[in-house]
Amino acid sequence: MEKILEVKDLHVHFSTYGGIVQAVRGVSFHLYKGETLAIVGESGCGKSVTSNAIMKLIPSPPGRLVRGKIQFHDKQLTELSEKEMRSIRGVDISMIFQDPMTALNPTLTIGTQLMEGLKQHKKISSLEAREKALEMLELVGIPNPDERLKQYPHQFSGGMRQRIVIAIALICEPELLIADEPTTALDVTIQAQILELFEKIQRETGVSIILITHDLGVVAKVADRVAVMYAGKLIEEGDKREIFYHPQHPYTKGLLKSVPRLDATEAELTPIDGTPPDLFSPPKGCPFAPRCPMAMEVCLRKYPKTKSLTTTHKVDCWLQDKRAKKLLASSSRK
Ligand SMILES: Nc1ncnc2c1ncn2[C@@H]1O[C@H](COP(=O)(O)OP(=O)(O)OP(=O)(O)O)[C@@H](O)[C@H]1O
Ligand code: SF4
Ligand SMILES: [Mg+2]
Repeated sequence: MEKILEVKDLHVHFSTYGGIVQAVRGVSFHLYKGETLAIVGESGCGKSVTSNAIMKLIPSPPGRLVRGKIQFHDKQLTELSEKEMRSIRGVDISMIFQDPMTALNPTLTIGTQLMEGLKQHKKISSLEAREKALEMLELVGIPNPDERLKQYPHQFSGGMRQRIVIAIALICEPELLIADEPTTALDVTIQAQILELFEKIQRETGVSIILITHDLGVVAKVADRVAVMYAGKLIEEGDKREIFYHPQHPYTKGLLKSVPRLDATEAELTPIDGTPPDLFSPPKGCPFAPRCPMAMEVCLRKYPKTKSLTTTHKVDCWLQDKRAKKLLASSSRK
């Protein structure tokens, strides 16, 4: 399979009055062509910062990409100028942002907003741009596209607006779509329709998708692989079945407690007792230790090495260390 994106050892900090927030602390992952990778984890764990970093949209100041590489095909995005990045954003990589209020401009028609990116990035006549806009509205399931092009965002329902946001993101035929909580603001039936739309779009266009979500029902429905984040780190990664049926990290197991089945549809991540660590001075050991029922002394002192369990399944947890396994086996015999 062809890798289109590779993120290596990403670190992002924010300077605030209270000190430096270490929002992302050494995240690495990759994405294959045509697949959907879901990134899951509690609020504040660094999902949006990671995806904004791929687009080089970390506000600076206060933000700073301290270390790491982001390779898209053979381009190192971290080394590109803002001008070069502008030719990639919306064209090769598109993003649907978490905040639905900023997604559409209330003062412009849908047609203008759909065609804006096309005209900016592609040498295309107004007539061709209009044709493409109509085609996109059809692809995302908006009836009467001819009429709808002339309307403003407030004339659409929430679900329809989200379809338009998706159409805008896809109009230049990007290879990678990053969707940050694209269904969170919608009610459950509309959510299901939007997820079906993602599946259809992927089938028809072959676009690769990074999907950020809190909702395990969403993951179960559309993801091929899952990356679990905690306190700025990616703590477990695997294909969907590995994560749902053989989770290894105690945090992932906690999240999945209420949803042992892959066919669950509306399951929220289970809240786990306790709170994540302070990212101003994150612990040097495992950040989950204060909440972990399996924590050992070593967990407080040292961060565990990443252990590969299969070619696709990886986990950062001391329980995978053979000394811990021996200890557990001997204590269970007693
Ligand atoms: N502009 C900023 N200034 C200071 N801190 C920030 C800024 N943006 C993000 N952070 C901090 O970075 C950390 C990660 O934030 P991020 O938005 O990535 O979380 P998230 O996983 O997307 O959460 P949610 O699920 O709530 O969207 C948080 O502690 C957040 O407070
Ligand atoms: S490393 Fe230790 S504290 Fe962290 S999840 Fe594993 S057992 Fe729990
Ligand atoms: Mg977020």
